[in-house]
Amino acid sequence: MVKKIQVAIDGPASSGKSTVAKLLAKRFNYVYCDTGAMYRSVTLTALRRHVDLSDQDAVIEIAKEISITFQPAEDNQRVFVDGQEVTRDIRSGEVSANVSAVAAIPAVRAQMTNQQRQIACHGGIVMDGRDIGTTVLPDAEVKIFLVASAHERAARRYKENVAKGIPTASLAEIEKAIQLRDQKDSTRAVSPLRQAADAIRIDTTKMSIDEVCDSIVRIIKKALA
Ligand code: DC
Repeated sequence: MVKKIQVAIDGPASSGKSTVAKLLAKRFNYVYCDTGAMYRSVTLTALRRHVDLSDQDAVIEIAKEISITFQPAEDNQRVFVDGQEVTRDIRSGEVSANVSAVAAIPAVRAQMTNQQRQIACHGGIVMDGRDIGTTVLPDAEVKIFLVASAHERAARRYKENVAKGIPTASLAEIEKAIQLRDQKDSTRAVSPLRQAADAIRIDTTKMSIDEVCDSIVRIIKKALA
């Protein structure tokens, strides 16, 4: 039988994780799981229900209660909360500005981590996030940590917004927001953004998506051999 492994891809916001993870999943016919979309889904639901995000118990209730599901689409992945599509809405500026606070709540993380481990338990998975290699899938056969300069990441997000027709902030505003989110994600008490000791670090600042993919394909093929 063909071996089906776990591939963990971590890194800061807009480091190219989701683009690369999607392409790798397609290439190996693996399932792709965007864990950031799960934290975004909890945040969106809390905002829609006008829950005060500093009321941790109320946010934890939402994380426990809602059902987050994914459906593969041609060049994207569709995200649903309780059967209702939220693919676009979870990318709004309001969700982006509030998701770090939600992702810092330990019981929310515990809930998401459980669901993520279930999704990954049979292997054949490419999972991207912040704590996949360190906490969610510590035994993943391949762990990648993608980095890029904040300026380059802001430029990528800006271009992506324009291409998708999403209303966008200026480049400078996006760069500032990215730096703020990096800082919050790296300094939170539970499962901060951190490179796993056995992860391979790739700086994508000057690399094309294809170059990044090719280098990870080589790493996965070696793990499969
Ligand atoms: O990758 P993203 O920008 O969609 O992630 C949204 C937020 O969720 C980000 O601020 C960090 C958080 N996150 C997390 O804490 N752990 C993960 N595994 C994935 C995302």
